Amino acid sequence: MRKSGLPGHVGIIMDGNGRWANIRGLPRVEGHRQGVHRSKDIIDAANKAGLEALTLYAFSIENWRRPDLEVYTLMQLLDMYLRTEIDFLFENGITFRVIGNRQRLSVGLNFLIEKAEELTSQNRGMYLNLAISYGGRDEILRTIRKMALEGYDMTKIEEHDFAVNLDTGQRDTVDLIIRTGGEQRLSNFLIWQAAYAEFYYTDTLWPDFTREEFYMAIHNYNQRERRFGTSAEKVSF
Ligand code: FPP
Repeated sequence: MRKSGLPGHVGIIMDGNGRWANIRGLPRVEGHRQGVHRSKDIIDAANKAGLEALTLYAFSIENWRRPDLEVYTLMQLLDMYLRTEIDFLFENGITFRVIGNRQRLSVGLNFLIEKAEELTSQNRGMYLNLAISYGGRDEILRTIRKMALEGYDMTKIEEHDFAVNLDTGQRDTVDLIIRTGGEQRLSNFLIWQAAYAEFYYTDTLWPDFTREEFYMAIHNYNQRERRFGTSAEKVSF
């Protein structure tokens, strides 16, 4: 059960790892390493707060264009994360899923992802989606192709049919998007799911994003009036 007032589904664009490292004269990959530590803490905070779903943007489909060494290190970090955190996820009742284009991931990483998804599939706590090799437009196109191949009559599909076939499945609406690192854009993240999302932008670089600020973002969301395109009088929760 979700505690009242909480956003059901939060998405986070974890930006600023490279700058965090640059400021300290460290290689960019050190920023990503610290970024993973922050992610673990925020996953725990989100789960303890009683969120229904958390989606973290770990590697965008555009990130494949980064220098080979950075891509390699990010893949290594994801590999390491899955190896070391699978027990934590399982023991904390978290259901883990990867969203994104898996065809571009290595066989080894796909194996670890499937293992983690299978192990946690019966859990009943928070859903954790890790967006890897993810792009919102790519997700929409893959979904259309998949549905056409499965025999859906694409001239008749409704919003709901489409939404549940996206990588995010039943968690197809995101309520709050947090972006660290000072930029104010969506960067191809959850573009269908974020149709009515609220946004929280912060200059804080991801490796400095604490659970206190995370709770503050949620508190800030709580103060807002969500109208979903209608007038205040017509929205009831
Ligand atoms: C962008 O920072 C951030 C990323 C490419 C995501 C990296 C995220 C992690 C390493 C955390 C992964 C989380 C888990 C749970 C495995 P940037 O390099 O664009 O920073 P910059 O804008 O300062 O250059």
